[in-house]
Amino acid sequence: MTPLVHEIAGLAIPELAQQFGTPLYVYDARTILERIGHLAAFDVVRYAQKACSNIAILDLVRKNNVLVDAVSAGEIHRAMAAGYKPGFNDPPEIVYTADIFDHQTLDMVVELGVPVNCGSPDMISQYGQRAPGNSITLRINPGFGHGHSQKTNTGGEQSKHGIWHEQIEDCIERANEHGLTIAGLHMHIGSGTDMEHLSQVSSAMEQAALVVGSSITSISAGGGLPTPYRDGDDLVDTAAYYEQWDATRGRLAKEFGHHVSLEIEPGRYLAAESGYLVAEVRAVKQMGGNRYYLLDAGFNNLARPIMYGSYHPMAVCPANGDTERAHQQVVVGGPLCESGDIFTQEDGGFVSSRSLPEAHVGDYVVIGCAGAYGHTMASNYNSKPLTAEVLISDGSPHLIRERQSLDDLIRHERIPG
Ligand code: LLP
Repeated sequence: MTPLVHEIAGLAIPELAQQFGTPLYVYDARTILERIGHLAAFDVVRYAQKACSNIAILDLVRKNNVLVDAVSAGEIHRAMAAGYKPGFNDPPEIVYTADIFDHQTLDMVVELGVPVNCGSPDMISQYGQRAPGNSITLRINPGFGHGHSQKTNTGGEQSKHGIWHEQIEDCIERANEHGLTIAGLHMHIGSGTDMEHLSQVSSAMEQAALVVGSSITSISAGGGLPTPYRDGDDLVDTAAYYEQWDATRGRLAKEFGHHVSLEIEPGRYLAAESGYLVAEVRAVKQMGGNRYYLLDAGFNNLARPIMYGSYHPMAVCPANGDTERAHQQVVVGGPLCESGDIFTQEDGGFVSSRSLPEAHVGDYVVIGCAGAYGHTMASNYNSKPLTAEVLISDGSPHLIRERQSLDDLIRHERIPG
């Protein structure tokens, strides 16, 4: 994204803002489709919908042969609303991956027949009591992990995720007690991982699969593929990554004497760069040495900067169509009653300024790489309604989520008496 922008996917930003209001999430379908194409060599691309779970996005990926992961009853419900079918097909369209079952979700996966990827020994027993004889997969914590932040590192003993790699034999026993077949293994060591760590996962998988043996018919590399947030960051070499996993899969298939299917489970890689958060500048003020642009979007809309100190690219869209603006050092923040409501964060420091084009009240600031973990992590904090979402496909903007109303905010609340 250049620092001065006028369009998203060929559509004028001020017109999108006027038609749908701000703050506004805008997704470009082409980016998602392009990214799906990069992963086509894998037998199964299973979208980690937690990244961006609007049912229109799920419908888009489903129509492009991408299957789906669900981490809650709500995500199973979304997947089905977008046309995915539950059931033990090979490969299953929906898989439930988690470290626990809440009661509602356990009932749901048993009643609908949604295959489960167990992230704790207790899940195996709880599922086995309800659905003896079924196939399951296990999410293994290989003892190491990595993420763009310690909060997104999902491997090693500092992480609560998965079944500890030294407990696989115990889990085989638990599964046997209920006649469950361990048909697949899965590893996801973190989100926004680097390739150095990701490239260690396939050999950990190979060792784990050999412990389980020939009941294994599928392996999943999990998600975690990094995406470029900063200018100059490259897209990862998915072909090389595939080859590494394909070699692992090939050795296992030879050992077991049957085909082993290879899955990948990306969230960020498919969704991050497709999404933009468009906000209007509502105040420009000088506070001592710091110049602030205050937007109508805050961390209620995009939590990643305050939560992880994450860097997001930003651009200014002049409402008057200017094609040149002088740059200045600015801090970009939102409307919320918290000092940490600042988008120009990096390396965990919350008031860091950035060089951006001059902006006035009524101009727009566009925050890029906001498609993954943007709207799905939004909240109603400060009683701000959730924003609308728009998907641009075939050159047209489609409203895929209505903006919440003020009545929506209090719809489920009751005053006693
Ligand atoms: N599979 C499992 C089991 C996961 O837990 C996740 C992400 C993924 C796949 C997809 O990971 P990805 O390809 O998107 O890296 N809110 C954080 C990210 C949390 C990721 C949680 N699990 C963020 O904004 O960076």
